[in-house]
Amino acid sequence: MFEIENHPVKDAIKQRAHINDAQYKEMYQQSIEQPDTFWGNMASEFLEWFTPWEKVSEFDFNKGEATWFKGGKLNVSHNCIDRHLATKANDTAIIWEGDNPDEDLTITYQQLHDKVCRLANVLKARGVKKGDRVCIYMPMIPEAAYAMLACARIGAVHSVVFGGFSPESLKDRILDSDCQAVITADEGLRGGKAVPLKVNTDTALASCPNVHTVVVVKRTGGEIAWNDSRDIWYHEQTDAASNQCPAEPMDAEDPLFILYTSGSTGKPKGVLHTTGGYLLQSAMTHKYIFDYHPGDVYWCTADVGWITGHSYIVYGPLCNAAITLMFEGVPTYPDASRCWQVIDKHQVNVFYTAPTAIRALMAQGDDYVTRTDRSSLKILGTVGEPINPEAWEWYYHVVGETRCPIMDTWWQTETGAVMITPLPGATNLKPGSATRPFFGVQPALVDPEGQILEGATEGNLVITASWPSQIRSVYGDHERCIQTYYSTYPGYYFTGDGARRDEDGYYWITGRVDDVLNVSGHRMGTAEIESALVLHDAVAEAAVVGFPHDIKGQGIYAYITPMHDVEPSPELEKELREFVTKEIGAIAKPDFIQWAVGLPKTRSGKIMRRILRKIASDEIDSLGDTSTLADPSVVDNLIDNRAKR
Ligand code: PRX
Repeated sequence: MFEIENHPVKDAIKQRAHINDAQYKEMYQQSIEQPDTFWGNMASEFLEWFTPWEKVSEFDFNKGEATWFKGGKLNVSHNCIDRHLATKANDTAIIWEGDNPDEDLTITYQQLHDKVCRLANVLKARGVKKGDRVCIYMPMIPEAAYAMLACARIGAVHSVVFGGFSPESLKDRILDSDCQAVITADEGLRGGKAVPLKVNTDTALASCPNVHTVVVVKRTGGEIAWNDSRDIWYHEQTDAASNQCPAEPMDAEDPLFILYTSGSTGKPKGVLHTTGGYLLQSAMTHKYIFDYHPGDVYWCTADVGWITGHSYIVYGPLCNAAITLMFEGVPTYPDASRCWQVIDKHQVNVFYTAPTAIRALMAQGDDYVTRTDRSSLKILGTVGEPINPEAWEWYYHVVGETRCPIMDTWWQTETGAVMITPLPGATNLKPGSATRPFFGVQPALVDPEGQILEGATEGNLVITASWPSQIRSVYGDHERCIQTYYSTYPGYYFTGDGARRDEDGYYWITGRVDDVLNVSGHRMGTAEIESALVLHDAVAEAAVVGFPHDIKGQGIYAYITPMHDVEPSPELEKELREFVTKEIGAIAKPDFIQWAVGLPKTRSGKIMRRILRKIASDEIDSLGDTSTLADPSVVDNLIDNRAKR
């Protein structure tokens, strides 16, 4: 165990860094005092525009509205590829590392251009045009990035669905945004196991009559069914297509993508991001937070199915003409040394991963790490959930050998890009703190009535002014967008997170304050899992809560009241777990199921989740006030029948 202590910026890092502390303070000040001047300058520096914008920013949080660079025309694919070709055509854009350690690929910017243009032409030939939605359901192969960029090139709006989601979840997402084309692969490959993507797609599409085209990448050659009128092979079609395709001029506020994420109620929401502001903030954060310099090899371990993959594998890095590493596999295959071996193999300089991966690898022992070299590493990063100081120190000492600062980046699908984070050359680090706001970001802590709290304090985290990569809407339901993010504390964007601010103004994110779980960095609504469970014939009622889990951060604990004629059994528990996997995906599978004769409810019938959380966390001595319960004996029964660990 390492001592938990603060870590001042090291001289070697300071010397190389784009931004030092004085610059951070000066730029931050300008970014909030004169946001339009600041962001206007950044938009000219980071992006290439076909036509300049008319107005930098405008927002009204009461209406959930924000626009950035309105009237400006640009294309994301042009910015991520074409404009680099004059000087960097033969530079590496993507390093792909396969699931199998013997498989890898290097893709130059010129090759990326050709691949993206060919696929864009295939989509066009199938009738996909500007504004149409395209679903991308892919493994971590370069074609996933080509697909995103091909959509952006022709102005189609992509909706990437994580390859671990079930056919049911895929279907819901395709229908919600009315995607008419799907890009997928025959199978994915993770940890040596095949993932049946085309089979899942076929199942989902049985209920999606509007999908006219499925582009299928041959990844494994596994056996799949084929629908001649709908399915086309990626390789056949792109080989035959032209490698030139003009990039469609898009308004800065034209939609770029939809990405579904979970909230505390209802089905997942399609978070809508637009073109100019999103690209600017993802590129700028990528450069400054990871102190990216030309030639650095940068690796973010996320999946493109999540926002981190969008902003920090594809758009941010490629916009900066960076070398971005894309990894198909998992950190423990063939063994727990894999990440560090990949770092040595490709001489990775920046490594960005999730706390859950760090904890899982830490549990395997230091030897898997120390047997590798890792001297290429300069900067480390984490994202997705709070990192416990012990894991932080292990990452710092064992992985980074005290040489590499750790960027603990706080942000969300809705924020599009990082919001609170250290900068390598500017910020003294405190393990477990995401530290200070990025340029232009104005966080605040509020009490339950929405009053802003000053100084060192704790409260709910809101953002008080717009930022370029902000969510623009919930696809097809702007009212839900207002309801979810702008109605709890009128005038502010509410993050759903709680946080503490210390005497140095550093933020410490404490986690969600709503009914959203964060399991291994994956965000999930308890309501979604409950809805899946009650679909099963044996289930009368279900309540799902999180509990602290050493590796996953949070685990899933489900209380289930069976139908009156159903006898609970270990077999039925197993069946219910599989049922949730089938309905949503393996990431939503409950760790524990507890059979409950009744659930603790108030007299008005509201489930008291606070009590369920305490019981699931084994904190039965601090249940709090139970006087409002309709039937207090329910609680004793739940305590007596806790799930065995
Ligand atoms: O609770 C926060 C947590 O992840 C949530 C956002 O999840 P998602 O939209 O899936 O995006 C994850 C990747 C950006 C937040 O509301 N979270 C994210 N980063 C951190 C974090 N919690 C603590 N520290 C972080 N660095």
